[in-house]
Amino acid sequence: MTADAGRNLVLAGLMGTGKSTLARILAGRLGREWLDTDELVVKRAGLSIPEIFARHGEEGFRALEREAVAAAAAERGRVLALGGGALLDPENTRALRATGVVVLLVGDPVVLAERAARAGVEGRPLLADAAEDVAARLGDLAEQRRAVYEAAADHVEDSTDGRGPGEVAEAIVRWVASRDGVLTDEERRAVAA
Ligand code: S3P
Repeated sequence: MTADAGRNLVLAGLMGTGKSTLARILAGRLGREWLDTDELVVKRAGLSIPEIFARHGEEGFRALEREAVAAAAAERGRVLALGGGALLDPENTRALRATGVVVLLVGDPVVLAERAARAGVEGRPLLADAAEDVAARLGDLAEQRRAVYEAAADHVEDSTDGRGPGEVAEAIVRWVASRDGVLTDEERRAVAA
């Protein structure tokens, strides 16, 4: 990170909205590093997410997530993919918005469920016990979280409307380039080229 690094580009939203996939694409496009707060949690704990939930409960997971978010928000100039519940803690949102802008990814729960099923729901404890009805569980979570997600978001993109990840990423690049103070001059020139 350099002193004049731009603000973090933070990707939030429910499981299956494509946060990590888009973070990787956006990082390539902007020449930034990217990181995923779930990966940070797993690395620091030395346990998988299902193991953390099994041993320490959701509360234990959220405590580790708070540390990972604080570490991620302390740097600038990166693309950050959040775990889907990270914005539920107002302290996380405050820290992330202090050094970054938040793009909320939303979409049809049926499509999100198909993606989650493809990845395997075993890795996602909040879906693993939903058996056949993962779309209904995701729809419920979307309702429960909508107000908090929307209050934290600077921009919203639907990642299930038929556009591929490259197109969704381009729309985010256009938004971010139109907004003052997120990209450095060099990044702005690179995306305009
Ligand atoms: C969660 C989302 C997961 C992970 C954990 C809890 C949530 O991340 O942090 O299983 O509360 O929505 P992804 O959104 O990357 O799957």
